[in-house]
Order: sequence, then C-alpha cells, then structure tokens
Amino acid sequence: MTSAPQNETRRGLIVAIDGPAGAGKSTVAAHLARTFGLLNLETGAMYRALALKALRNKIPVTDGEAVLALTTNTTITLEPGAGGNRVLLDGEDVTAILRNPEVTQAASQVSVHGPVRVWMVNAQRTLGLGAATGVVMEGRDIGTVVFPDADVKIFLDASVEARGDRRFAQQPAAESKENLLNEMRDRDRRDRERTESPLRPAEDAIVLDTTGMTLDQVLERAAAIVANVPRR
Ligand code: DC
Repeated sequence: MTSAPQNETRRGLIVAIDGPAGAGKSTVAAHLARTFGLLNLETGAMYRALALKALRNKIPVTDGEAVLALTTNTTITLEPGAGGNRVLLDGEDVTAILRNPEVTQAASQVSVHGPVRVWMVNAQRTLGLGAATGVVMEGRDIGTVVFPDADVKIFLDASVEARGDRRFAQQPAAESKENLLNEMRDRDRRDRERTESPLRPAEDAIVLDTTGMTLDQVLERAAAIVANVPRR
C-alpha cells in the first residue's frame, strides 16, 4: 500500500468521503462542496472511464497488466460542475455513459488491480493538491490511501437494502430492483474483499450509518462534521 508523503505542501482543506455504492456519497459530497466552497472530485468516475476504455478496446477487465498498459496513453479529466463531475476520457465527454450497468460492473473489476490503483491514486493526489480552494474527494480509499492525512474523513454506510432502494428510486426504468440489488452485492463483495486497498473505514474516520436517516438529516450531519474541522 502507498501513502501520501507527509511533507507535501497542502493548499486547501481536504475532506475524504468513502463508503459503499449507494450510500449517498455523491449527494453528500456535492452538498459539502457547495456549502464550503470546495472542489468536488468523484474518483469512481475515473475507474469508470478507464473501464469504458477497456471495454471499447476489447481488453478483458480481469487482465490487470493489459488494463495497466492502457493507462500509459489515457487521460482522464474531471470537470466539477453544479450537477456533478463532467468526465473527459482522452478529451471526449463520456459522462452520460459511465453509469450504465456494463461500465459499472467493469469499473469494479478494473479497480481490483494494484498497479492500476497506484496510477489512479497518483492522479487523484495531484488533482486534490492542485485545488487551491480545498477539495471534497469521494471514493472507496480516499481516507485510507489517497489522503490518509485528510482534514476530515467521513465513511458513509447503509444497509444494502436501503442503498438498493435509493438507487432504484434514482433509476427505476433502468433495470429490475432485484438485478440492481444483486449487482450491488457483487460490487460490495469485490470492493470489500479485494487485497488492494479494500473498502473499509480509516481508523480516524467518522462512520455515519444512514440506514434510518432522511437525506436532509444526512446532509445536515455531514455539514456539521465539516463545520467543526479546525481551519489551518
Ligand atoms: O463510486 P462509483 O460507484 O462510481 O465507483 C465505481 C467503481 O470504482 C466501484 O466499484 C469501486 C471503484 N472505486 C474504487 O475502487 N476506489 C475509489 N476511490 C473509487 C471507486
């Protein structure tokens, strides 16, 4: 596992949001970014973009070496906007296709490869440290690997049923609820059980189980946590 050099000059507040799929990370991150004037970076979109490129090039996402080779001529850019990140893959806006089920599963498979993660983590650190205004960065390993010295770490969790309900409400036409739940369980297992940077809360993360909470309650609680962080 790699960790951020501790002598890097940090330019702004760093808020790390981690947790499983459907726990509300994107909504919380967007709210925090708006409230505190931070740049919002969704790291999952980077894994999705690389997975899309692998699929398009017929590279098996299970082949770590082949996927890593792909990174040498790949540029992924996140452009934060009001409605989430716009994602450019080698200059092409691929935002609209990154959430389809095939890309979703492929992203989870791409993310198990250690060397691919190292490439991602380096890119994510550069993006985060370059944000003069500070950043809220959302993913699976932000508090444990990308920014182990983040100013505040929130780990959002919820039961798989609650997360499935929320996702289904967002995309009812896309697929059956049962399929969605099964895919979510698959991804959960891969994210939590992989050897490289498995999904887990950092020791100093504040764990927020949102199962029985309304969205407003979650947003309020997360904002209160960030408001309490001493500014340097
Ligand atoms: O957050 P998301 O659903 O868009 O992420 C897509 C996939 O990428 C997810 O299955 C896990 C992986 N991922 C990761 O391993 N590490 C991150 N920091 C972000 C996402």
